[in-house]
Amino acid sequence: MNNSDKLLIRNICCLGAGYVGGPTMAVIADKCPNLNVTVLDINQERINQWNNPDLEKLPVYEPGLKEVINRVRGKNLFFSTQIESIVSDSQMVFISVNTPTKTKGFGAGYASDLKWVEASARQVAKYSRDHTIVVEKSTLPVKTAQVIKEILENTGDDSQAESNTFSILSNPEFLAEGTAITDLNNPDRVLIGGDDIRSIEALKSIYKNWVPEEKIISTNLWSSELSKLTANAFLAQRITSINSISSICEVTGAEIKEVSYAVGSDKRIGSKFLSPGPGFGGSCFKKDILNLVYLSNYYGLYEVAEYWEQIIKINNWQKKRISRLIVQKLFGTITSKKIVVFGFAFKANTNDTRESPSISIVQDLLENGAEVIITDPKVQASQIKKDLDLEEFQRTSNTEFGFWRFSKDIYEAVKNADAILILTEWDEYKFVDWQQISRNMRAPSWVFDARSVSDLDSIRKAGLNVWALGNGSI
Ligand code: UDX
Ligand code: ADP
Repeated sequence: MNNSDKLLIRNICCLGAGYVGGPTMAVIADKCPNLNVTVLDINQERINQWNNPDLEKLPVYEPGLKEVINRVRGKNLFFSTQIESIVSDSQMVFISVNTPTKTKGFGAGYASDLKWVEASARQVAKYSRDHTIVVEKSTLPVKTAQVIKEILENTGDDSQAESNTFSILSNPEFLAEGTAITDLNNPDRVLIGGDDIRSIEALKSIYKNWVPEEKIISTNLWSSELSKLTANAFLAQRITSINSISSICEVTGAEIKEVSYAVGSDKRIGSKFLSPGPGFGGSCFKKDILNLVYLSNYYGLYEVAEYWEQIIKINNWQKKRISRLIVQKLFGTITSKKIVVFGFAFKANTNDTRESPSISIVQDLLENGAEVIITDPKVQASQIKKDLDLEEFQRTSNTEFGFWRFSKDIYEAVKNADAILILTEWDEYKFVDWQQISRNMRAPSWVFDARSVSDLDSIRKAGLNVWALGNGSI
């Protein structure tokens, strides 16, 4: 391709200032000082939070994020709700809006709800000028690009529609929360799906500012969309596999950490994503597997659908069995007992709680009448209230139902508690003073470590009973 064929990209924007859009665009701005990058959202409050001069109050907590924002915000990175003018000035528009699983209508419980993607495509169709490259960033079901294409080609401002052109690329984001900035700075690969060579090259030239060319993979649109779903499904499947084995360890006397290490030492298997836990959470894994299940059923591939759906079933079962075990160990009843939950985020180093195993496990504990004290270094009580759909200290009309409260200080939280349940692997919970904790609790007291992160000997020495996930030797 000679230089005159190249598309000139000066201004780019992203619809959606969430966990993906915000950090991704911040890193692009950081790496490409010649680009003007604007992150757009319909939610004014979210944009205000991104613009907050106090970097501790950004809407997303990610290690390293505030440093990046500090370097580029106001220089070549902007956060705004001015969708019309910014889209119309942009040569490239990323779509990174929410795509939750549908709760009603056809495909409910499985298919992704594309109403926000559709609304975004309509905004692009209406406001864009000349040639615009539309880049799908959100995790989307296969064939979504087709939907976007049809909207772009058939809507728009009448006076402009004739002259406007679009090309669509799929560029799924593989960042994991908690390590988003490192993942974005040093990705294993960048995947670009599409059929318009000039647009692919334009997006590639952005990434080439910091990603070695051999790590940039080009495919057709559908391969790119399907690869993202498949990557997440494979990762979720590994976690489910190790979690299923954790239950076998507990009854046979084996230790899941030893098994995980021994299995992961085989280079063909590899050691990553073999940490047992209370079940995977996060906004992607469940949604993406459900999309695969929906897609497979849609095409009559029922056995394939059943295979993937089993991952979700075991993941739910893992959460349930932890709740059941707690009730059983606490003499068959937890009514009015105090249980302290260490960690509400779906994993460490994030304030995100979407699909966090803590939500359903706490709900089980409340249903069984417990007083639940929740602590987390980054999650706010207001978020927990939304997730549980229950006010702090609120008692329901069902007198058997427990209540919850938040505590920032773990040593305060454990006062007179009967049990501690570790659900998120925050460093704060790995190195606690078990002697001090033990003195504050009510005996006989228990520690349930659903992440297998604590030092069992120190817990035992402090006089506490302990259960650790997948550890059959205690
Ligand atoms: C995931 C994918 O990793 C990422 O590539 C994709 O872009 C989005 O989805 P994320 O959900 O942010 O990222 O976090 P991830 O680190 O994958 O963890 C997902 C869940 O699995 C968490 O609840 C985590 O605690 C759990 N997990 C992960 C385990 O239980 N064990 C492991 O070994 C790894
Ligand atoms: P993700 O984890 O994929 O980034 P989030 O839910 O964190 O998802 O963020 C999605 C963001 O997209 C939300 O802040 C939401 O307000 C925003 N959004 C939804 N629809 C639109 C739209 N049409 N235009 C701009 N932003 C949108």
